[in-house]
Amino acid sequence: MLETRWHVLGAGAIGSLFALGLHRSGCTTTLVMRSDAKARFLAVKVEREAHCSEVRLPAITSQDRAHISHLLVTTKAYDVQTAVAGIAHLLDEHCVVLLLVNGMGLARQLNDAWPHLDVYCGTTTEGAYTLAPQHIRHAGRGETRIGRSGQGEAPAWFGQWKQVTDNCLWDSDIDAALWSKLAVNCIINPLTALHGCRNGELAENSALKSQVEALCDEVATISRAAGFAAVADTLKPTVCGVIAGTADNRSSMLQDVSRGRQTEIDYINGYLLQVAEQLGIPAPHNRSLLERIHNRAP
Ligand code: PAF
Repeated sequence: MLETRWHVLGAGAIGSLFALGLHRSGCTTTLVMRSDAKARFLAVKVEREAHCSEVRLPAITSQDRAHISHLLVTTKAYDVQTAVAGIAHLLDEHCVVLLLVNGMGLARQLNDAWPHLDVYCGTTTEGAYTLAPQHIRHAGRGETRIGRSGQGEAPAWFGQWKQVTDNCLWDSDIDAALWSKLAVNCIINPLTALHGCRNGELAENSALKSQVEALCDEVATISRAAGFAAVADTLKPTVCGVIAGTADNRSSMLQDVSRGRQTEIDYINGYLLQVAEQLGIPAPHNRSLLERIHNRAP
């Protein structure tokens, strides 16, 4: 198998986890850091149960001379466009760009701006959080799905990805997988962020439980109309399962709100609302969540 060189843009928890996985699978793996970063090598540390793995990976910035042929993007959704624009001069003409990012609509945005890029999407349920820069805890093993809208067959580079994580699949219906994750995030993320609670409380508190129910109904109606009937049919049990399985988690949006950072709401509920509007479906619960997150006190 041909060795592939991957660059990783966005060395947060998921970026660090996959950078280690890529390195271990035999790929030459380089971190792409912000333009003011000085280090030429960075230690990536991943704690898993009682073990800690550490590797030193080369790091570049937009000011370096480099050719990027395969780029994994693990930034926040709202940073994707600017972060890719910052290194666009380093990308090979038909560079493979794999977006492992929350939300939907980003592949289209990238292809509109750079039609020659070979953009793929992924979604993962690997659980990881940051302890310090490039030092993370891999808290829960999950599944990673990769695909491209309308593409049944996996490309040659995907062969290596089966060794990057324990459970990585090519998904010929990646849009459904991304939509399913979006639907779950539309419900859990803003509610936990607004109420300052862990995911599990959404199943324990009766007022929150009824908000989950109402949101599930609204998101299921939009999902069905958008062509994702299977997601709609199973949305309630799926959401309950994620809440139970991640009961102790502080959702990513709650973490962003607690740290006073921008949230990904525009790429999650905002994207769903755009689709609902195109389909002429009212979505008052989602609209109210979006507005409350936007208008929250700093
Ligand atoms: O964004 C998140 O935090 C996660 O996707 C999820 C599933 C809501 C668990 O916390």
